[in-house]
Formats: sequence, C-alpha cells, structure tokens
Amino acid sequence: MSLAPTLSGAVSAPSLGSSHKAVQSCTLVIFGASGDLTSRKLIPALHQLFLEGQMPARFRVFGFARREKSDAGWRAELREALARFSRTQPVDDARWASFAENLYYHCGDLADGAAYQSLAARINAPDDAALQHNLVFYMATSPSHFGAVADRLHAVGLLQRKEDGDALWQRVVVEKPFGHDEASAHALNNQLTQHIRERQVFRIDHYLGKETVQNIMMFRFSNSIFERLWNRESVEHVQITVSEEIGVGGRGGYYEEAGALRDMVQNHLLQVLSLIAMEPPVSLHAESIRSEKVKLLQSITPLTAESVRRQAVRGQYFAGSHGGEPRKGYRQEEKVSSDSHVETFVALKLFIDNWRWSGVPFYLRTGKNLPVRASEVRVQFRPTPNVLFAAQATPESALQSNALTLRLQPDEGISLHFNGKVPGNSPKLRPVRMHFDYDSEFGAYTPEAYERLLLEAMAGDATLFIRRDEVEAAWRIVDSIRAGWGGAALSNREFYAAGTWGPVAADDLLAPLGHEWHNPQPLP
Ligand code: BG6
Repeated sequence: MSLAPTLSGAVSAPSLGSSHKAVQSCTLVIFGASGDLTSRKLIPALHQLFLEGQMPARFRVFGFARREKSDAGWRAELREALARFSRTQPVDDARWASFAENLYYHCGDLADGAAYQSLAARINAPDDAALQHNLVFYMATSPSHFGAVADRLHAVGLLQRKEDGDALWQRVVVEKPFGHDEASAHALNNQLTQHIRERQVFRIDHYLGKETVQNIMMFRFSNSIFERLWNRESVEHVQITVSEEIGVGGRGGYYEEAGALRDMVQNHLLQVLSLIAMEPPVSLHAESIRSEKVKLLQSITPLTAESVRRQAVRGQYFAGSHGGEPRKGYRQEEKVSSDSHVETFVALKLFIDNWRWSGVPFYLRTGKNLPVRASEVRVQFRPTPNVLFAAQATPESALQSNALTLRLQPDEGISLHFNGKVPGNSPKLRPVRMHFDYDSEFGAYTPEAYERLLLEAMAGDATLFIRRDEVEAAWRIVDSIRAGWGGAALSNREFYAAGTWGPVAADDLLAPLGHEWHNPQPLP
C-alpha cells in the first residue's frame, strides 16, 4: 500500500535550501586536494552538477595540495577516479573534457605564505570580477589546519569579512570533525570568525545532504495526521539507529582518537534527533530552522556522571563473522592499540526537557560491524488500552502498538505499522505494514549528499550546514558523556562480536522501561 497522496506530486511549499536559485559564477579552492574525499566525493559531485546544468555559467576549481602535479596530471587522476565514483556511468569523454578544462592544480604547502600568494595571482588572472571575488574555500584537510589556512587566505586578501548586501562573496566550507570537544570547537569558531562573519562559514554534516534527512522536516510539518501525534501524549519513545556493516577498516588511527561518540553521535545522530524533535520553525529560512535545532539540543537534559552510568553505553567489537566471512576484532585492526578501550558502538537514552517531549525517552545507537547498513528512525506510539484484543493475537506475532519508521538509508522509505484482522472466521489480529518507497514513487533519484551541499554552499544558503552555536551545543552533550565515562576500561557486557547487534549492555538501557530495540529489517 502506498502513502502516495501525502508524499508524491508537486509540492508547492518552498523547498529546503536554495538549489532553485541561480548560482553565480565563482571559483572553488579545495584544500587537501590529494585526499580521498576530493576524488571520491567532491569532484564526482561537481561533475554531476555540471552534467545536470546546475554549475554556474563560469567556474573554476583549484585543487591545493603538497604533491608536485600538473593541471593535466591532476585531471587525468580525477578522470580515472570518476570511472569508479561517478553515479553517471559510463563517463562521457566529451562532457568530461569540457568540465575538466575548469580544473587546476595548485602545488603548495599549507604553512607556506608564498603558496597563497601564487594562488591569489592565479585566481586573479582572468579579467572577471565574479571568478576573482566569488570564492568558496573548501577545507578538506586535517582540522588542525583550518584556522591557519583561513589566516593565510586573509593575509593575501582572498578572504574578507563581507557585509550584507555585498555583491561579491567569499565562503569557507569546513569538513568534520569540527574540533574534538566544546573548547576546541569554540576556539576554532573564534579563529574562523576573526576574518569573516559567521554567515560565511559553512560547517558540513553530510547527513544533512541526504534527501531522506531533509524529508524529516517536510514530512513532519506537511502532514497533519502525524504532526498532531508528535508529542508526549501519543509517543511512547523514539529510536534512532545508524548501523554500519563495515568495521573501521584503514581508519584505525583516526578512530583511536575519535571513537563512535565523536565520529557519529556528535554530528549525524544529534542532527537527526534535532530534526525529529524540534519545534516548527517560524519560516523555512536557514536561521529559523537552525535556531529551532539549537533550541532542541539545548533542551536535552544534561547528563551527569551518575546519569551517564545509566543512560550511556559503549561497546567495542571483537572478532566475529558476517555472512559467513570472518571479521577481525577492533583491537586487531591496523593502527589500533591491542588493549584499546575506544568505543565502536554507542547507545544513549536521552530526554528532552521541554513541553512537547517531557518524559519521552529518545534512544540513539550507532555502531560499526553490525549485521546491516541501515539508518532509521522509529517513532513508537503508545499502546491502546489492553482490554479487547489481547487474547486475539497469534502466539507467533503478538499485538504491537503503532509505529512509524522513517528509513533514511538504504531502501529509503517510510512505513506505518498497525494491526489488522487476519482474514477468516476468527477475530485474530496481526501486525501489518503500510509502506512508502522512494524509488517506486519517485524513480531511482539518489543524488549524493555532496552534490546538494556543494550547490547550497555556492548558492549561499546555510540551511543544510551547522551553525556555530549548534556545533558547540552538540559538543557539550558529547563532552558530558565522555566526562562520565572518564576513560574507564570497558566491561565484559560492553563487548560484542563483529556481525551482531551490539553489546548486551545496550539492551539493559531499554529494559527498565520495558522497551526493546527494533533492529532495521530488510524489506520483504
Ligand atoms: C562519517 C564517519 O562521518 O560517516 C564514518 O566518519 C561513517 O565513520 C560515515 O562510516 C557514515 O556515513 P554514511 O553516509 O555511509 O552513513
């Protein structure tokens, strides 16, 4: 059954973000251009936008990195990468050639002032004010460089504070991680905004680039049947699961520093939570939406060392198997200490201290090396009084209370779970599901998050980016959890075999209120 009437067809409300606006001609500079992100995500996204006619009339992309390379050499490398990472296959050589003539490589050390002088000279070479002064600086480097790069760009006149109404613009796009705690994020914010205004800073969380994450707000505020149930009166609890099938792979070194709490919860899970739980914004403007998200993060009941013990669970995978294939334990991964206590799994029980959500638990969990790759939100509604049908449920399938599942990825869609009569003479009931599927409704339209985010950054719409107070509020929550854990060793109940749904301690988190995790299921 389809929910088509509520979700298909032309939507007349203004869309989130501004991709419908014409994007002005500009120059993009990618710092850290020899990294993975550039060849896997950024260039394929820009190329896709070009194919779809969404790039500005005139544009240039400079890749800034240390390795010696010519423009032609860089283009050839990117062409090769595109064969693997473009979502339009096969890559059309003629169209690639017209895109590639806008790509330039700039060899330089991030700490060398002269490299920025020569970059400025190249940017200023064409006699075209838009290409010279409409600038997007994309920081795809290690975060320790963000501040210094901004200082140097400012020193050579490429980055300046822009006032509202200035015709030409400069923006800085910053990749995660944005700091490693609240204090470092605050310091980085200060450093960046020394030279530019907050509205020139675009902090990335690639989850906000996902269609299904953007749809959370559209879904909530355009469907009266759900919005009126979206509160403590009707909702028993909410579960947000971001499960990953892969382990840490080659990123052990980074992961030892980060752990799942910083890597996933601080950004992606708290972003999904704020969209699910925030109040309706007064408009669809970036500042209205972001203010509501910040308010929500600030309403999360602060965690003390005592509540962390009851409400925050860590886990780490040990060797196991997945689909019959053996999987290494985290401690056997490359660049991971053999007695590491870093978490590869986190489960939290959070409460939101506001009128709408008082007393409703929000369970969040994420982990590596779980059985499936799936991100979903399950809104579990309160049960009906248990007076009429308790005896009618079949033993293999007990009566379940209503739930709504927003499947963010993969198999993007929304399911409503309810009970229905089993056909026949007996009055038996069984849980059934009404399902809306993005692909069958809209066709297989799966733009990469980075396409949308790059377009929005060029258009200057910050809706899908994290604001300064938002990133700091998210770190405050994460810092309180880390402080509660206090670097203590993991207990036996916090280890899980690779390929399973996490440690038993995560079940303990839900048990006191009689709740259970609902693991994402493949569609029938
Ligand atoms: C990144 C994390 O931000 O998100 C990774 O650093 C994680 O550890 C990734 O694998 C998950 O993103 P997605 O889009 O695959 O869910």
